[in-house]
Amino acid sequence: MKKHNRRSFLHFLGRAGLIAAGSTAFTPVLNACNTKPVQNSPISKTGKFPIKGILPQSKDEIVLAEGLSWQMLIKWQDPISAKDTFGFNNDYLAYLPFDQKNPNEGYLWVNHEYPDPLFISGFPRKTDPKIKTKEQVDKEMYEVGGSILHIRKNSKGVWELVKNSDKNRRLNGFTMIPFEWPHSIRGKKEGMGTLGNCAGGVTPWGTILTCEENYQDCYGESDYSGGADNPKHLDSDLGWEQYYKENYPEHYGWVVEVNPKTGEAKKLISLGRCAHECAKVWTAKDGRLVVYTGDDKNDEHIYKFISSKPGSLVEGKLYVANMEKGSWISLNIDEQPILKQKFKNQTEVLIRVREAAKLLGATPLNRPEDIEFDPITGNVLVTLTNNIPKGDFLGSILKIEEGSSDKTGLSFKSDTFLAGGPEMGFACPDNMAFDPKGNLWFTSDMSGSMMNKNEHYKSFGNNGLFVFNAKEDLVVQVASAPMDAEFTGPYFSPDGKSLFLSIQHPGETSKSLSPEALSSHWPDGGNAMPRSAVIVISGPVLDRLMAM
Ligand code: FEO
Ligand code: CA
Ligand code: CA
Repeated sequence: MKKHNRRSFLHFLGRAGLIAAGSTAFTPVLNACNTKPVQNSPISKTGKFPIKGILPQSKDEIVLAEGLSWQMLIKWQDPISAKDTFGFNNDYLAYLPFDQKNPNEGYLWVNHEYPDPLFISGFPRKTDPKIKTKEQVDKEMYEVGGSILHIRKNSKGVWELVKNSDKNRRLNGFTMIPFEWPHSIRGKKEGMGTLGNCAGGVTPWGTILTCEENYQDCYGESDYSGGADNPKHLDSDLGWEQYYKENYPEHYGWVVEVNPKTGEAKKLISLGRCAHECAKVWTAKDGRLVVYTGDDKNDEHIYKFISSKPGSLVEGKLYVANMEKGSWISLNIDEQPILKQKFKNQTEVLIRVREAAKLLGATPLNRPEDIEFDPITGNVLVTLTNNIPKGDFLGSILKIEEGSSDKTGLSFKSDTFLAGGPEMGFACPDNMAFDPKGNLWFTSDMSGSMMNKNEHYKSFGNNGLFVFNAKEDLVVQVASAPMDAEFTGPYFSPDGKSLFLSIQHPGETSKSLSPEALSSHWPDGGNAMPRSAVIVISGPVLDRLMAM
């Protein structure tokens, strides 16, 4: 547990290029290589905050703070119905009770982000995807998308999947999903599958927003530098396009709305196309929606959509952030002559929104990932995971203070909220969730190839789960993940006493499937291959925190 003492004198750290440019002399010292061990003190200064922090760990297991325990809810390939199994690499979670009077039974939405061909079909590492068979590609396509699960807490207090409930279903790489837009997208009204489903959000009417992040890995990308009418295809890493030639890159990279009751989905074109990490919805007093979304790539941007009608995710305008000016810049072609010169229409602007944003002076950021609203201050918090080529190894959390309380205005102030570093005990913040008492919980995303190895990351051990208490100004490490894994998708039950959490990509650096080459055997142990899974964390210290 550590009192964080740096934010008072840190300015905004997350602009890509700031460190490389050397315009802030102290920044490289604070947020670059560290060799000091992370040293968390065990208790809060007042003694009131009930969770005692753990030190960094490098074990192939989940290590939790005293007074907390975890249970397995579901893991990769578990059957969820007569025909479907739970997908790979689970990420974003959202728990929606069926009935507000009974918080112990409802839908759990789960994102399945990306496939690892080694585990899914035994396809060897570093092998040209062009020699992959259609059967191997089809297996990978089945594993992405999302799961809709019927779960409940049983009489023993254990959360369980209701097996063979007709509410259990899958969306995957084959699900046909219409584009919510009056015009076709690369000649089609619908696209095959949803993929790259990283983080997300929930709408006020109880649907899920699932975000297509690294879509280029599946079907590649289009390069428009030679002209809009004949884009050049850039090959994907997974090679799916060789068997599905009409699944164009433009069909992916959208925010997708899913109704958990029916499984119906639509791709929301108005929110633009990029590596969406998340989509966080705010409802203004007049019923208009403001949706924030980060584009998780080095030097990309933060966007916000403001609807022109109450409750619409279609009609409205998309904006991008300029951090220096503290302004949201309209991406509407009718308001921006420079966009008119470059693009034929608004559909083209939204498909190539990164290019449009850059033309208008959007600020490049250090991998904007998750976004949450601080329930106490109303501020918008954004994780900036890192930007290694620019010298930001440890990342930070950005605070945006909107000029208007309903968030529909176009001016804001921003500052660093928390900065990763050995003094803080964390690096590379990614997903966030506020508990019902206003504590900020967040996960870290150090890559498997660098965790415990690279000089910048060694002292942090495995990826972790952390909680920040504003009153005591404390950051506490609550949990440590198995080898190579990342905790993702933290989501609290309505009473705050159960924390649903994804364990993603354990053993991702495994060289082959032979037991000695596997870098993790979690959760089954022995010689078993690793599996992503959803767990539930609970215990007396969480109960005490909720009673404070
Ligand atoms: Fe899929 Fe941005 O993490
Ligand atoms: Ca993420
Ligand atoms: Ca991440």
